[in-house]
Amino acid sequence: MKNELSTGTVVKAFGNLIHVAFKGDIRQGEVAMVEIGNVSLKAEVIEIAGDIAKIQVFEDIRGVKLGTPVTFTHHLLEAELGPGLLTSILDGLQNPLEKVADATGLFLTRGVYIEPLDREKHWDYHPVAKVGDSLSRGESLGWVNEGRFSHQIMVPFTAYGQYTLTWTIKPGSYTIETVVARGVDEQGQEHAFTMLQRWPVKIPLFAGEKLKGSRMMDTGMRILDTQFPVIKGGTFCAPGPFGAGKTVLQHHLSKYSSVDIVVIVACGERAGEVVEVLRTFPHLVDPHTSESLMQRTVMICNTSSMPVSAREASIYMGATIAEYYRQMGLDVLLLADSTSRWAQAMREMSGRLEEIPGEEAFPAYLSSRIAAFYERAGLVQLKNGKFGSLTIGGTVSPAGGNFEEPVTQSTLSVVGAFHGLSRERSDARKYPAIDPLISWSKYVDDVSRELEEKIEGWGEMVTRAARILREGDEIGKRMEVVGEEGISLKDFVNYLKSELYEFVYLQQNAFDKEDAYCPLERQKVLFPLINHIFSAPLEFTSHDQGRSFFLELQNALKNMNFMPFKSERYESALSAIKQKIHRMAGSK
Ligand SMILES: Nc1ncnc2c1ncn2[C@@H]1O[C@H](COP(=O)(O)OP(=O)(O)OP(=O)(O)O)[C@@H](O)[C@H]1O
Ligand SMILES: [Mg+2]
Repeated sequence: MKNELSTGTVVKAFGNLIHVAFKGDIRQGEVAMVEIGNVSLKAEVIEIAGDIAKIQVFEDIRGVKLGTPVTFTHHLLEAELGPGLLTSILDGLQNPLEKVADATGLFLTRGVYIEPLDREKHWDYHPVAKVGDSLSRGESLGWVNEGRFSHQIMVPFTAYGQYTLTWTIKPGSYTIETVVARGVDEQGQEHAFTMLQRWPVKIPLFAGEKLKGSRMMDTGMRILDTQFPVIKGGTFCAPGPFGAGKTVLQHHLSKYSSVDIVVIVACGERAGEVVEVLRTFPHLVDPHTSESLMQRTVMICNTSSMPVSAREASIYMGATIAEYYRQMGLDVLLLADSTSRWAQAMREMSGRLEEIPGEEAFPAYLSSRIAAFYERAGLVQLKNGKFGSLTIGGTVSPAGGNFEEPVTQSTLSVVGAFHGLSRERSDARKYPAIDPLISWSKYVDDVSRELEEKIEGWGEMVTRAARILREGDEIGKRMEVVGEEGISLKDFVNYLKSELYEFVYLQQNAFDKEDAYCPLERQKVLFPLINHIFSAPLEFTSHDQGRSFFLELQNALKNMNFMPFKSERYESALSAIKQKIHRMAGSK
């Protein structure tokens, strides 16, 4: 280990990319501090060429001049991990935004770095490991209660090899920097462990065995759970044109997904939108536990007004915090909105580095970076036999809504589910604007198998519904040409079935108290009912008769979506609908 830090001076600046002539040892990815008067700006070494280091500064570089001193820290960009992360709102460098605002006033001042975890707060520590135990990285020394979670205090992930504990603290109330255990490594060297550890954000963090997931992550959104499901430990993406509903979709997932912890990365989104989330989120209630949603959430915000270089940091910071909680045996969901902003930051930096550009001037390593990010998802079997999962979902905002561009294509080649939002649907206010004719999920079979345990024929019903939608779309297109009367009655009825499915089931009102969240229990009633309509022997004497029957049925079903599940009104609406179908099916 070196005692003295390497230093250098600025020789050239190109936007946020600075060239520094340096002395000493430095390495790629290392954090450097650019010293302007009494302000230090955080930066990261991205390229070393001879005695010149190219560093990207995470902040506004006003005031940087030829000769401005730079210090290298010998640390990679790291996340602080320990109890107290939940409920926090951080920027990409893990500064707690509220505390930064308290310290600097309403306008965030550059060069202000505040520790993300409270050093004064006491936590009730319960030791579990005993003197003489032999532990390795990720294994529990003890735990504290963080809200309703038992936050495991683990042997640091940076500590490779076996450690034999020589001392453990007694149960009590301690700060995160208190030494709670000591152990000797295989060379007999002693190490002290606290509740606080650090991990380089760009390196995936996990200890245990990575496995393929298979259990469903239900979302309370009918079109996803039924038609394009996601599994715990899986990956998915939602590309969509400007204003199609990507952010609203992610907010839905952050509120209702059946996971323990949610990490939200708002990457380069509009400041107003971020403020809106910060304002509303703390008041929302988790439907699974009735606690405040913030209790299970970590938010990382980088608005479009912050330097682009910090966007990359936020994506990796989010992934690391999410992985840390997975390691405690929890189910974690990481949501990134929008990954295109991150890709644009990569493009900008690559341009400044004068790298050979790839497609649409994105760097050639774009796909591998995107793949590496989604690969951090997965199910992990921990050393104690328990499982933790990390599910990752990102939005993509392709210019003009054209999915043929590199970011969308690179993402589609690695994710397990594609929820494609379409302009036609959002213009027609068919929300969520996920287009069922282009979207897909590789998890349908896994989820069908799980749901079949409770509802026989689930998989078949999903296939049938998808077929009816496709047929309906094709008939609809023909009808545009030849008109309703030019279509056979049989085709017309099929068209009406697909319209009913679309209107009653796939569309969902995000702003209605009841309809916004449709738990699986509720889908398990509605979906078989709709399938019953699909297969019932309904026969009509005319197009008009068919149309009016379906319109009435459609409205009755839609109204039922706005009623509290299993309420008296709901039950009587349900039985009236069943009777109506029965009468029609029996009347021929
Ligand atoms: N599920 C929904 N139900 C009702 N309205 C919706 C829904 N989804 C989106 N909207 C409407 O569309 C608007 C834009 O949605 P949103 O901000 O999520 O789009 P976006 O795709 O994130 O846009 P951008 O590309 O600008 O980030 C919302 O303010 C809302 O009015
Ligand atoms: Mg958005």
